[in-house]
Amino acid sequence: MAHGILAGKRGIISGALDENSIAWQVALKAKEEGAIFTLTNAPIAMRMGEIKKLAEVCEAEIIPADATLVEDIENLYTKSMETLGGKVDFVLHSIGMSPNIRKGRAYGDLNYDWFAKSIDVSALSFHKFLQVAEKMDAINEWGSVVGLTYMAAQRTFPFYTDMAEAKAMLESIARSYGYRYGKLKKVRVNTVSQSPTKTTAGSGIGGFDKFYGFAEKMAPLGNASAEDCANYVVSLFSDYTRMVTCQNLFHDGGFSMVGISSEVLEDK
Ligand SMILES: NC(=O)c1ccc[n+]([C@@H]2O[C@H](COP(=O)([O-])OP(=O)(O)OC[C@H]3O[C@@H](n4cnc5c(N)ncnc54)[C@H](O)[C@@H]3O)[C@@H](O)[C@H]2O)c1
Repeated sequence: MAHGILAGKRGIISGALDENSIAWQVALKAKEEGAIFTLTNAPIAMRMGEIKKLAEVCEAEIIPADATLVEDIENLYTKSMETLGGKVDFVLHSIGMSPNIRKGRAYGDLNYDWFAKSIDVSALSFHKFLQVAEKMDAINEWGSVVGLTYMAAQRTFPFYTDMAEAKAMLESIARSYGYRYGKLKKVRVNTVSQSPTKTTAGSGIGGFDKFYGFAEKMAPLGNASAEDCANYVVSLFSDYTRMVTCQNLFHDGGFSMVGISSEVLEDK
């Protein structure tokens, strides 16, 4: 069902680790819709080699970058503009990691060095992607930058620990930078708040499977898949959404608006 809505557009897609990754699905859709782009991930993720398969299918170059390092991000934009033949029109930030979650630390027993790392990787990196792009003038007018987030920024989910704080900051950066970049260059900045999705980052969260089932019963449309998310993100990269900025957009099958569903009430 491709419509060529990204024909002629150039972009950067971060965070594709394996075929379950939301970013992996975004890359496939962006290719289908006619975009050219580079792929990036942390150097350590390259060792797993999976991303090379995606790069082949998408005819995309891979440019390793640790999203916490400004010099890596500068190199990412420089090489992307060289490879793609000009400034980019879209950037996907699909990056998240909490050492506290990985190591099973409870919210009342957080390691603060790890907390700082969670914020750096999962939220500050979004600001770095934007600030470096602005300084290098690497994004075309009416370009679109999207970050992926989760509803734990608004409501509390005990298993999400310090990632809740990281996501709240990520969404705030989208508002603040969306204002600044919109005024400066008409560049749009939004976050997409996605349903629980079975990916490496998602499944690493304690109790994920149970919660996934609960959300599925609560949402009138059920949980949104990574592929559904990719369709939505691609629409945000397109010119059909050019007046949308500074938003946190729920892509969750309606979960965020439901108090209780009949399935949960009847415990089906
Ligand atoms: N899976 C879910 O349930 C869910 C729900 C809502 C939002 N999200 C968000 O979606 C985004 C993508 O996650 P995913 O679910 O596709 O999982 P994923 O594990 O496939 O992707 C996370 C990516 O972050 C990358 N990353 C980690 N540290 C990095 C660093 N220092 N530099 C560069 N890249 C780094 C990883 O290599 C990986 O590719 C994350 O922001 C996540 O919080 C996920």
